[in-house]
Amino acid sequence: MAGGAMVSTDGGRGKGYPARMTLYVFLTCVVASSGGLIFGYDVGVSGGVTSMDSFLLTFFPSVYKKEKQDRSTGIYCKFDSQLLTAFTSSLYVAALLTSFIASLVTDFFGRKWSMFRGGMAFILGAGINATADNLFMLILGRFLLGVGVGYAIQSVPIYLSEIAPPRRRGMLNIMFQLMVTIGILIANIINYFTNKIEGAWGWRVSLAFACVPAAIIAVGSLVLPETPNSLIERGHTEEAEATLRLIRGVDDISLEFRDLVAANKRCKEIRDPWSVIMERKYRPQLAMAILIPFFQQLTGINIIMFYAPLIYKAVGFSGQTSLVSTVIIGTVNVVATLISIITVDKVGRRGLLLHGGVQMLISQLIVGTLIMLKFGSTGEATDISKAYASCVLFFICVYIAAFAWSWGPLGWLIPSEILSLEIRSVGQCIAVSVNMFFTFVIAQIFLTALCHMKYGLFFFFAGWVVVMTVFVALFLPETKNIPIEEMSLLWKEHWFWSRFIKDEENTETGNLGRPRGGYSRVQVAAKVFSRNRV
Ligand code: BGC
Repeated sequence: MAGGAMVSTDGGRGKGYPARMTLYVFLTCVVASSGGLIFGYDVGVSGGVTSMDSFLLTFFPSVYKKEKQDRSTGIYCKFDSQLLTAFTSSLYVAALLTSFIASLVTDFFGRKWSMFRGGMAFILGAGINATADNLFMLILGRFLLGVGVGYAIQSVPIYLSEIAPPRRRGMLNIMFQLMVTIGILIANIINYFTNKIEGAWGWRVSLAFACVPAAIIAVGSLVLPETPNSLIERGHTEEAEATLRLIRGVDDISLEFRDLVAANKRCKEIRDPWSVIMERKYRPQLAMAILIPFFQQLTGINIIMFYAPLIYKAVGFSGQTSLVSTVIIGTVNVVATLISIITVDKVGRRGLLLHGGVQMLISQLIVGTLIMLKFGSTGEATDISKAYASCVLFFICVYIAAFAWSWGPLGWLIPSEILSLEIRSVGQCIAVSVNMFFTFVIAQIFLTALCHMKYGLFFFFAGWVVVMTVFVALFLPETKNIPIEEMSLLWKEHWFWSRFIKDEENTETGNLGRPRGGYSRVQVAAKVFSRNRV
């Protein structure tokens, strides 16, 4: 099981384990994180190139014509084209399908080989895209990029969490998201410059640049060490011990190593994990693995990530200015993710999600209203002032900041930390697939939905933000500072989820002696904390 052995039994705290982040591990993590860059670069590059005239003329002449000539169409339906959305969304179908294959490769051949395959598929896809002269090549290239993304998002987070000292695991998890946002920003900046290239081939440079992070991960994975967990899983115990010593930078790794071996043994004893996760007592974890990524996509974030340049052009920015706006948004995205890294363990997950939800709701309502007032339901408007367009941009930035310190990183962190060991691999696979599936759906239907729902689309996503914020308030327990192997206690004492877990039932932690009526959150945290100090 990929990731089945991805954590030790220490509860994510690393009691008595070497906690030092060695230079070797740091560099290894930097290389592996370029998997996040690959993902982010793809998210960022498609919106930019689809707003370039030369790109539209080459592959989507009908969309180009509609945009240029048919003034009566209004903004909402200007870019409505199933083929244009297929270009963006095909990547996510491929990533979704590949994530299942990747989880097998990650298990049987190791994490490194998944990363290598991801990098190679990506280089190939970028090459085909950059040299494409027909739509088939373009979509084929994009599909291969999706294969690369599928391998990368399946293997890199697992690799990072297995190689990192247990105490740095959470931080490295969000680092992956940070790399995603940096990838998006780099793509935005490159699009800005390539759009200026004379001769209508700038988009080729944008698409070709995807080779850079792909080459880093493909070449890097050849020299990266395999994780001790994967080595143990595949029977190379001595090599695993030597690798653990190398990455921890100390001689005495016996405690951690013993726990890794024990954790691995337990994983192997588990029968079909897919039927295990369906058991009633895992209902809260299964629900979170599905709902958290679902909600993340239903924030509507990717309509901005994929189609912002088109939206800006529609509301009156020139092609080049709309690309500058994308760079501004990309920068806000990176900075706000950094804020999340700093605050996540202080403010807590719920605090960030509740705050982020309210901020996203307000900004989405304002953006929807601004568009409604100016464009009404016909989508037609004259004399759009710079101030108006900048005001829309400002509130989109407010929305992006809220997403980037809440649902962006936490949409990935929470599923990975609430899953108990025996179901972690399948749970993670479900979370990744749900995320990719809804990324695909949103990418595919957005332009058509905009054409039909008009400004109402912003209110539609705002409605979902209300639903997810209420969900967080009622159903998501705070996981800050709770070691991952102790999470099951939180469900047991939760007002709603406790009904799925009988008192005598335990997942992996052993019963810590829950009093009638359950523990309070503080009691759980204190109990867990004292247990870990022993
Ligand atoms: C989401 C992506 C999104 C990105 C934006 C990620 O957490 O999964 O769909 O494009 O954040 O920063």
